[in-house]
Amino acid sequence: MLSKQHSLKYRVTGYLSNMKLQVKAGDITEQEVDAIVVNVFEGVSQPEGATKSVNTAIKDIITSLIETGEVRGKSGELTLIHTQNSIKPKRVLVAGLGPKEKFNQDSIRSISGGIVRFLNAKKIKTYSTVLHGGGEGGIKTAVAARSIAEGTILGAYKFSEHKSKKQKQYIEQVTVVEMDNSKVNDIKRGIDEGVSIASSVSLARDMVNQPANYMTPSDLVDIATDICDGTDVELEVFDESRMQQLKMGALLGVAKGSVVPPKMIIMKYLGDAKNPDNNIGLIGKGITFDSGGISIKPSGGMAAMKGDMAGAASVISSMKAITELKPKINVTAIAAATENMPGGNAQKPGDVVVAMDGTTIEVDNTDAEGRLVLSDAVSYGVQLGLKRIVDVATLTGAIEIALGKVTTGAFSNNPELVSQVIDAGTQAGEKIWELPTFDEYRELYKSDVADLKNVGGRQAGSITGAMFIGEFAKDVAWVHLDIASTSTSPKTSGMITRGATGIPVRTLIYLVLALSKG
Ligand code: BES
Ligand code: MN
Ligand code: ZN
Repeated sequence: MLSKQHSLKYRVTGYLSNMKLQVKAGDITEQEVDAIVVNVFEGVSQPEGATKSVNTAIKDIITSLIETGEVRGKSGELTLIHTQNSIKPKRVLVAGLGPKEKFNQDSIRSISGGIVRFLNAKKIKTYSTVLHGGGEGGIKTAVAARSIAEGTILGAYKFSEHKSKKQKQYIEQVTVVEMDNSKVNDIKRGIDEGVSIASSVSLARDMVNQPANYMTPSDLVDIATDICDGTDVELEVFDESRMQQLKMGALLGVAKGSVVPPKMIIMKYLGDAKNPDNNIGLIGKGITFDSGGISIKPSGGMAAMKGDMAGAASVISSMKAITELKPKINVTAIAAATENMPGGNAQKPGDVVVAMDGTTIEVDNTDAEGRLVLSDAVSYGVQLGLKRIVDVATLTGAIEIALGKVTTGAFSNNPELVSQVIDAGTQAGEKIWELPTFDEYRELYKSDVADLKNVGGRQAGSITGAMFIGEFAKDVAWVHLDIASTSTSPKTSGMITRGATGIPVRTLIYLVLALSKG
């Protein structure tokens, strides 16, 4: 169960808690900080802007390192220079930005992530940075500042809640220093937005990293409650008996095998109450542990199935930033939360369940439980009058075969909505690629004994899983994101840290912001 000692608001245990991000107008060489951060593009021999003035102040060390080839400006390259009292800050960190043609807001995020970890390893407490991308990079001031905030917070993220000896976080303060006074307000706005977005992502990472005995359906309810407290967001939680009244037979069939009670969590944000149809639903798979049920999974790697609630984590935690950023659109998050366990009362392969909309489903494999819980969650969303639905799920192992761990799979019945989702992903630095949902695939999940069966066989596993969910969206614009391979990462790099990635929280937030602007 949830230990109340960390009912820390939003339970963000990443480094965020004691790291302060701010903006200051002034000359970066005159800051009272442990280090300052400047940058160079790949292949540039004469740096411009703030880097140029720092170079002059430290007697051309940067240009001479460029001459000898020690500083090349490669993306991710970090060179630490000790200033020997030539300027106030004791150290200058030169960060490579990579080639100018490839530079975008996501480069800023990953560079910022690398920087914060590098300086933390040097036990540095305070540093100031130039606004990467603000000058030559040609990125809008607020966007550049937002990307620095996102990359810094997320790059510093660590999940150490269950470690007796916590790894120390040294960094206390990060300041963006800007010469041009007129840019300060935009930088501040960007940082605030970035902090908000990054805390949502950190929260999602925490939820996914948390073991299943700390992250049950009720724990998801506690977190949703925490987010809604003190805001106008309306929270509704359905328990088992309410689900029975609503005839959510597909979800209940999965829940039967576990002694832990299932929950359906509904969070409603009304940013455009006068136009109820200006809405979007974010629906997440919340399997807090997926053993496979009676179609039990092999034990090797089963522990990773604590993360099978990453879809629910992403829709719930996105609501945190949405309530803070207040876009003019109505957003409903729905999380379908239960364990999938074997047991004396568990559903069996071959069982037939009746979904909320009356569709009968043959449960051919109890390990294809995500589409079952989502069918009822999507039906409920349609009944609520949602005009657009994005569902997020760690749905299929097959998506890793198709797209690897680089790209999230998208599936849709609506070209406009899916392109809006993919565009939001591009902005967010979360890669998404669309796979087809041609009618011919429907044959694969037709059942001999019921309307549908929950598995489609060996072929096109991610597509049939997605299309099964799509059946319940009816004619509502719908996109499904399969994050089974992207919700976790085996390695730390840039703004991504080992373990949960928090994908696709940023995409969802950017999508909602973009849709709210018409
Ligand atoms: N939760 C799994 C999918 C998964 C696999 C997530 C690997 C994260 C990493 C899902 O419920 C599942 O078991 N899917 C089955 C479907 C099959 C039985 C049709 C799968 O992918 O094997
Ligand atoms: Mn499963
Ligand atoms: Zn699952």
